[in-house]
Amino acid sequence: MKFLIVNGVNLARTGQREKGVYGAESLEEINAGLAAFAKAHGHEADFFQSDIEGELCAAIGRAEGVYDGIVLNAGAYTHYSYALRDAIAGVSVPVVEVHMSNVYAREEFRKKSVLTEVCKGEVLGFGKASYQLALESFWL
Ligand code: DQA
Repeated sequence: MKFLIVNGVNLARTGQREKGVYGAESLEEINAGLAAFAKAHGHEADFFQSDIEGELCAAIGRAEGVYDGIVLNAGAYTHYSYALRDAIAGVSVPVVEVHMSNVYAREEFRKKSVLTEVCKGEVLGFGKASYQLALESFWL
């Protein structure tokens, strides 16, 4: 199977910003680990990151017919982007929502995701392992 791992706003700075929350590893390092994990299980993973909402929507749209699943950490867009929600609802590719932190143990605004209802499932609170668990959910 072929998967797309999508990271949204501010996630390019993983490893540099709020290390106590998101860890010290860079997004490139996390992605390299995910690529190796997918490969070791006979699958393929591609990666996309953008801070721009419309680019994330377009990447989800382009995934139609190309990928078997999407792992999405939309960053703060999770909490208010109806555009991303519509993009997810508009493709038949299943999307698993991911968060590195336990959003329920943080600020009030993080407790609401406008994406979860249109996602296949959600993995959160396990740091970079959240991505791996989400990816694995597609073949378990
Ligand atoms: C995040 C949680 C979001 O609330 C936050 O805006 C992020 C990262 C996470 O991975 O825990 O940027 O999605």
